[in-house]
Amino acid sequence: MCGIVGYVGRSQAAPILLDGLGKLEYRGYDSAGVAVYDGGAKKLSVHKAKGRLQVLSDMLDAGAAVPGTVGVGHTRWATHGAPSDVNSHPQVSRSGKIAVVHNGIIENYAELKAFLQGEGVSFVSETDTEVVAQLVEYFVDTGGVGLLEAVGRCLRRIEGAYALGIISADEPDRIIAVRKDSPLILGYGQDGMFLASDVTAIIRYTREVTYMDDGEAAVLTRDGIQCYNTFMQPIEKEIAHVDWEIGAAEKGGYEHFMFKEIMEQPEALRHAIFPRIREGEVYFENFSLTDDYIRGLKKIYIVACGSAYHAGVVGKYNLERLLRLPVEVSLASEFRYMDPIVDGGTLVVVISQSGETLDSMAALREARRLGAKVLSIVNVVGSSIARESDEVLYTWAGPEIAVATTKGYSTQLAVLVLLGLYMGRVLGTVSGRERAEAAAELLALPEKLEKVLEQRDGIQYLASQYFNHNSIFFIGRNVDYALGLEGSLKLKEISYIHSEAYASGELKHGTISLIEEGTLVIALGTYEKLFDKAMSNVVEVKSRGADVLALTTGDRRADMEKIANGVMTIPSTHPLLLPSLGVAPLQLFAYYVALMRGCDIDKPRNLAKSVTVE
Ligand code: AGP
Ligand code: GLU
Repeated sequence: MCGIVGYVGRSQAAPILLDGLGKLEYRGYDSAGVAVYDGGAKKLSVHKAKGRLQVLSDMLDAGAAVPGTVGVGHTRWATHGAPSDVNSHPQVSRSGKIAVVHNGIIENYAELKAFLQGEGVSFVSETDTEVVAQLVEYFVDTGGVGLLEAVGRCLRRIEGAYALGIISADEPDRIIAVRKDSPLILGYGQDGMFLASDVTAIIRYTREVTYMDDGEAAVLTRDGIQCYNTFMQPIEKEIAHVDWEIGAAEKGGYEHFMFKEIMEQPEALRHAIFPRIREGEVYFENFSLTDDYIRGLKKIYIVACGSAYHAGVVGKYNLERLLRLPVEVSLASEFRYMDPIVDGGTLVVVISQSGETLDSMAALREARRLGAKVLSIVNVVGSSIARESDEVLYTWAGPEIAVATTKGYSTQLAVLVLLGLYMGRVLGTVSGRERAEAAAELLALPEKLEKVLEQRDGIQYLASQYFNHNSIFFIGRNVDYALGLEGSLKLKEISYIHSEAYASGELKHGTISLIEEGTLVIALGTYEKLFDKAMSNVVEVKSRGADVLALTTGDRRADMEKIANGVMTIPSTHPLLLPSLGVAPLQLFAYYVALMRGCDIDKPRNLAKSVTVE
């Protein structure tokens, strides 16, 4: 959500800023802007435009029209004030000397704005961010202090979540960066220093980065970076090397990132699974949760948002089956305010692809405050959630760019199964033979998934039959219900078709009244144990006029074909892994439906890739 890029160095800044913002487009935004210090005119040159980054880039001749070697850029996802040129960032102080880019929300902006207005400062935008620019200038003017000191004073007054990039025409050799609850990284290049919301923006220029922690500030000059702690005392920070391939964040010939990422799933699963299985047993390198700690657990709590939450719902079924421990699963946005029953005997598992989702982060902190250990399942290495957890299991899916998650979700499922087998050994609830069987199936999973993806033409055909429906139901029981939640969300997000996921047994308690002639029901019946029940529900909706598209295993195709209008299949596998295969046809179905409806698949309306506001 929103993107920040900053550069100070020997090269021209504007082309680097625009290029970096382009790499952050996937995060979601509604307007863009840059501010660059023009050494000739000795002032900041600020350019902003509502809409796509391309509009700004065309306006500025891809940056060539804006001279200067220091600058900040921003793609905005409006929270305060409608998307418009004036509300876009950078926001500038009244003299035009200080420019600020901001990700997050300044919660007490109204109070600060009133204070500044009382001091005679006038405002031009409706944003909360403008308060920061005006307040910093106010402290420079009234306190006679430099930019860093003024920013420090400003930080003592503002509340909320923020990543900030600040430049001043009076100190044009530097950028000040600040982070609290919104991601920000620093990059060390050959000919200058960088600031960005995530590494994809700057990986073309450098792989040496520092992850800023909450409450920290940094001063970037062309030859180096000095970091400061909350008390503005200088600190040394670790420099990490990023080993992603540059091409991993490019489309590589595919029309959409989402499709590329669907097709990458077998490879992503190999990364997530293979290094962690040795001779039929799950092995986690440097795992800090001891066997004694695991044996002392009373409960597991899974907390996440969106698709990661749906992975958690599958996780609940699987972990309870394997561990015979109660597993609760909660939406992070609910968990953080519900006074959850969590203590030292609870393991809280936070799942997040980005590792930056604000609600999940807040839930993590609440869990730790209550005395629980937090194990996170995260994709983005070095992200905030990963760093604040007691232990992390990375999903190693590689960069995920499309807003709708695919390989992020399927690798989360695999890691949850690995975790269940690992803990099942420690707790003695899963026998050696069962573990070896499940491990063998995990190793076979990528290849089986490849087979599922090979059926994409058939799924495209089915999508062509149903893409103009306006309401669709997903039904299933147990893990098939959990899978339906994800299938339904995928469809909603990218095709804008209203759909609902329902536990099949609940239909007759109300929802079945919505089934009429031609309603599309996607019936999920991959779980062999409940296959007969799934069939009964198919008959139930068919006899009320529904069109049924079914998903089942190859062994059950013939049974389903007798009733359903269309059948998609997956190979048989261990029950723990059914959703890992079953999700692929649903992702492809959503993708092709959205394609046929002409939707903006990688950047669906109103959505952002990582939701760093509440
Ligand atoms: C998934 O397709 C969604 N875009 C969304 O629900 C996402 O899963 C959710 O915002 C959580 O994100 P995270 O995994 O990065 O924490
Ligand atoms: N709250 C700020 C605004 O609405 C920043 C939003 C963002 O993170 O892009 O302008």
